[in-house]
Amino acid sequence: MSQRVLTGVTTTGTPHLGNYVGAIRPAVAASREAGVESFLFLADYHALIKCDDPARVARSRLEIAATWLACGLDPERVTFYRQSDIPEIPELNWLLTCVTSKGLMNRAHAYKAAADANQAQGEEEDAGVTLGLFCYPVLMAADILMFNAHRVPVGRDQVQHIEMARDIATRFNHLYGQGRELFVLPQAQIDEAVATLPGLDGRKMSKSYDNTLPLFHGGAKVLRETVSRIVTDSRLPGEPKDPEGSALVMIHDAVATADERAAFHADLRAGLGWGEAKARTTAVLEGHLAPMRERYEALLARPDELEDILLHGARKARAVATPFLHTLREAVGLGRLSGPNGSSRTTAPNQAASADKLASFKQYRQADGRFYFKLAAPDGAVLLQSQGFEGGRDAGQWVARIRSEGLVAAQAAPVALGPGVDWGRVQAALQALQAQDAQG
Ligand code: TRP
Repeated sequence: MSQRVLTGVTTTGTPHLGNYVGAIRPAVAASREAGVESFLFLADYHALIKCDDPARVARSRLEIAATWLACGLDPERVTFYRQSDIPEIPELNWLLTCVTSKGLMNRAHAYKAAADANQAQGEEEDAGVTLGLFCYPVLMAADILMFNAHRVPVGRDQVQHIEMARDIATRFNHLYGQGRELFVLPQAQIDEAVATLPGLDGRKMSKSYDNTLPLFHGGAKVLRETVSRIVTDSRLPGEPKDPEGSALVMIHDAVATADERAAFHADLRAGLGWGEAKARTTAVLEGHLAPMRERYEALLARPDELEDILLHGARKARAVATPFLHTLREAVGLGRLSGPNGSSRTTAPNQAASADKLASFKQYRQADGRFYFKLAAPDGAVLLQSQGFEGGRDAGQWVARIRSEGLVAAQAAPVALGPGVDWGRVQAALQALQAQDAQG
């Protein structure tokens, strides 16, 4: 089975080099690997936890969408969407909230940092803490588990959240799985070489520290000015410098080639001045970023095109999320009261619908010479339509597999997706067919 890789970027700011190095670049690289299915999204619900300025959230969504596309993301290859376009995510968030212990959330870094800061200032522990912030890791778990991601590329600061997602998934599987693994347990993936990029002041590069290096914003001029503000030690030109632990060197190395890095380190040890070192860092960054910046500017100028791309991504994401949520609702006891999805599950043999009320598979060849199958409801409505196959056997094998394995196989099959697939209905039809197959 292919590996699912998923990551998100919170839409509160203008993308900076830390976002690029820690999240965007590894995600784009992973999306090009064979056997990988990538889900990349704008975490705009998460943005509301940190920011109550609508204009800023809106602007940031635009900039971040343009950034990812400019950095080489191919929206045909990957599922690229906005969190807020997927209503199944907040719904799953609630199912997960109900199995998450409050004690686990008490230990979350983001909340603890706020509580500690309050205490240090003699404030009440929870002053200014919203439930959004407190439950932040649950929403993040919903993002990840909704798509059963195997790997989650993130910065080191997010690793705890992935561990919490595993905890929550384990608990849910245990409570509701009845022996099935409803959720895959996700694994954090950190690029060790550049796990946490330091900012201008040497602390982690982060919007919250106001120490970031903008990725594209402001162009070459802002880039040069920002690099000149990176804090270095006070060694003079000619004095040997230790490249280890220097923020400037780490920023340089994050985009430099291996040769450039080696030369840079050697020159610093031999006494290269910090001024020179900054000029070299600027040149390396500019060489790497300029071509992407050009694509970025072009995309920002066409927001309607960006909107279309995101809506296309949302349709692809929901083709996965809608049927899976259906399964989860059933697992917790929120399925339909009757019918193939309802409590009749347990008494299926008595309830199996008569053959003339069942959906059916049809296989056929079209004028293009290719072979197709479709799943048609009793009223003739097409529930599922395959793409064309070279041979009739391929179509036949998929039909057999979907009949025996049900919805999961249907989703894996090369079917024409489009916005129209009602996965809930497909699942109901397949379950009815399976009930009949089991009887007959
Ligand atoms: N919390 C992440 C951050 O601030 C963003 C995010 C939200 C995310 N949901 C996610 C990352 C799911 C990975 C997977 O960087």
